[in-house]
Amino acid sequence: MSRIVYVNGDYVPEQEARVSVFDRGFLMADAVYEVTSVIGGKLLDFAGHAARLERSLAALDMAAPMSSDKLLEIHRELVRRNDLDEGMIYLQITRGAPPDRDFVFPDPETTPPTVVLFPQAKALVDSPAARTGIAVISIDDIRWGRRDIKTVQLLYPSMGKMMAKAAGADDAWMVEDGLVTEGTSNNAHIIKDGRIITRHLGNEILHGITRAAVLRFAREAQFEVEERAFSLEEAKQADEAFITSASAFVMPVVTIDGVALGDGTPGPFTRRLREIYIDEIRKAAV
Ligand code: PDD
Repeated sequence: MSRIVYVNGDYVPEQEARVSVFDRGFLMADAVYEVTSVIGGKLLDFAGHAARLERSLAALDMAAPMSSDKLLEIHRELVRRNDLDEGMIYLQITRGAPPDRDFVFPDPETTPPTVVLFPQAKALVDSPAARTGIAVISIDDIRWGRRDIKTVQLLYPSMGKMMAKAAGADDAWMVEDGLVTEGTSNNAHIIKDGRIITRHLGNEILHGITRAAVLRFAREAQFEVEERAFSLEEAKQADEAFITSASAFVMPVVTIDGVALGDGTPGPFTRRLREIYIDEIRKAAV
């Protein structure tokens, strides 16, 4: 069945959706994005995603094309028109399509941003991977220095995913100066002696909306949380590990570079965190 997507003010069947070949998102990855999950036809943590979007736009000197209320309306309309029960809404805003390719930013007065949103149906709560856990490998983090901005420059993370697949694993954790930064499309966390250890915020990682919510719920449930960088070696000796992202929620990691954590199955703290996260985030869905 064809999806209805949103392009610059219009809701159109996906086959009719068009953006210019001069669009800077296409030519220069000059664009930011957000992925907001949907359960039971409701959006999870929309306010968090809208706030990060504003931050990403401001960091790249791009004006917000519309208010977050209007964005929420479009998200909801796409859920409605596509009858989306569970999955994600993808949103991308580019610096628009100037008349010609040029490294200089176009004048926003004459080149409006391109705004595209589309839905993607996916079973998120009842995920087979959450039952078995996933295997990760480590790779060098060679991305640029502003990973806190959610841009569409996803070639290296995509290559990282392929390196993981080639090694028979599910995903890759990126490592810089011996310290784990994050997963290809998720934040990385470990658990040692019941304490959650997760890299502190900075320019080196994306400030995950799921990470923030999970840490908040974990603290409320009396978990101890340490926000600091951890090494790959420390991760391999952890009792448990997990990733967080809008679409993975809390996903157990059971091996790192072939080294099994604990007994190599999802651990009790991670399973508890996944339950808490899904319960709490659902209650606040809009
Ligand atoms: N990825 N780190 C990176 C590099 C990411 O790409 C993502 C999200 C995260 C987790 O952020 P959040 O919890 O806000 O989803 C961390 C999205 C889901 C994607 O690219 O599909």
